[in-house]
Amino acid sequence: MPPVTVVLSLTLLTILLTVSPSIAWRPWPNMKHNSSEYIYGNSKKYEGSSEFVHMKYHMGPVLTANITVHPIWYGTWLKSQKRIIREFINSISAVESKRPSVAGWWKTVQLYTDQTGANISRTVRLGQEKNDRFYSHGKSLTRLSVQSVIKSHVTARSKPLPINPKGGLYLLLTSTDVYVQDFCGQVCGFHYFTFPSIVGYTLPYAWVGNSAKLCPGVCAYPFAVPQYMPGLKAVKSPNGDVGVDGMISVIAHEIAELATNPLVNAWYAGPDPVAPVEIADLCEGIYGTGGGGSYTGQLLDGEDGATYNMNGIRRRFLVQWVWNHVVNYCTGPNALDQ
Ligand SMILES: *[C@@H]1O[C@H](CO)[C@@H](O)[C@H](O)[C@H]1NC(C)=O
Ligand SMILES: *[C@@H]1O[C@H](CO)[C@@H](O)[C@H](O)[C@H]1NC(C)=O
Ligand SMILES: *[C@@H]1O[C@H](CO)[C@@H](O)[C@H](O)[C@H]1NC(C)=O
Repeated sequence: MPPVTVVLSLTLLTILLTVSPSIAWRPWPNMKHNSSEYIYGNSKKYEGSSEFVHMKYHMGPVLTANITVHPIWYGTWLKSQKRIIREFINSISAVESKRPSVAGWWKTVQLYTDQTGANISRTVRLGQEKNDRFYSHGKSLTRLSVQSVIKSHVTARSKPLPINPKGGLYLLLTSTDVYVQDFCGQVCGFHYFTFPSIVGYTLPYAWVGNSAKLCPGVCAYPFAVPQYMPGLKAVKSPNGDVGVDGMISVIAHEIAELATNPLVNAWYAGPDPVAPVEIADLCEGIYGTGGGGSYTGQLLDGEDGATYNMNGIRRRFLVQWVWNHVVNYCTGPNALDQ
């Protein structure tokens, strides 16, 4: 990116810090963000369907080349936890999985194209990983220090992560004892791109935190529910780990948005590039037919009592739907009309 853009981006970032990117439903501790009203007018319908949403292409690049996700495991992670997340990422392109499948979910993301008409890549794979067991930047990170963590791992002396601006996604995953700016109050994860001035390159990245200790009722909903919302009931998570099972949908949310809006100048709705409303923002909290508000929509029940909505390789996952710009509502593989 040219330097002018970088300066602009830094300005945008300062503003972004104060703007809540969340639009659709989560049981946020202070539910006074009424931004959904702004998007939907006063007639929000189920599954986000609305004539008021204008998902638009702003001419920037999207990820049409094979996508490679590079996880950075920050803090303390169990092997079993890493396995769940790796298998989810590997499931995105596992087209032979039992339906409804994660690969079926990705089909909605593949409907987005760039200026040449090229679709988002069908291939998403797991790339080289890094461990950051000793909390290289401490247990409390800001949006800017997240970039410094990524820098450490793409410039590491031993086995640095490959620099792949075309298809590389750098996914910082923080363990339960790490706080990241705005975590729990306003976000469960976010994505952006790194600044050459900090990292040396423009690389699309995302952060997702394990909320198991800090706010499972918010970021691992509906596998946990917040105490301040007594009417809600938690459901059983499919892989026996509330925090990690809750992260899966947030990881999916961020990967879908990184693919369609990696430099925040491609696919988003709303008039404001400073607070872009992206394809997963519009469908947060919607996991099945009829979903909207605190209702997840129709889900699947396993014989073991677990709740999920799609299959991957060997495992089941609960993943929010994404905005389908062809039909103008949220869609997912477990929709009842398919
Ligand atoms: C949000 O919207 C609801 C329903 O329209 C309204 O009752 C409430 O006062 C609004 N909250 C704020 C902070 O504006
Ligand atoms: C590519 O995008 C177009 C436009 O949304 C869509 O009609 C087509 O089905 C997509 N192709 C694939 C392989 O998803
Ligand atoms: C992209 O991935 C597909 C497998 O899905 C593979 O056949 C193809 O060679 C890859 N392309 C590149 C450029 O790596």
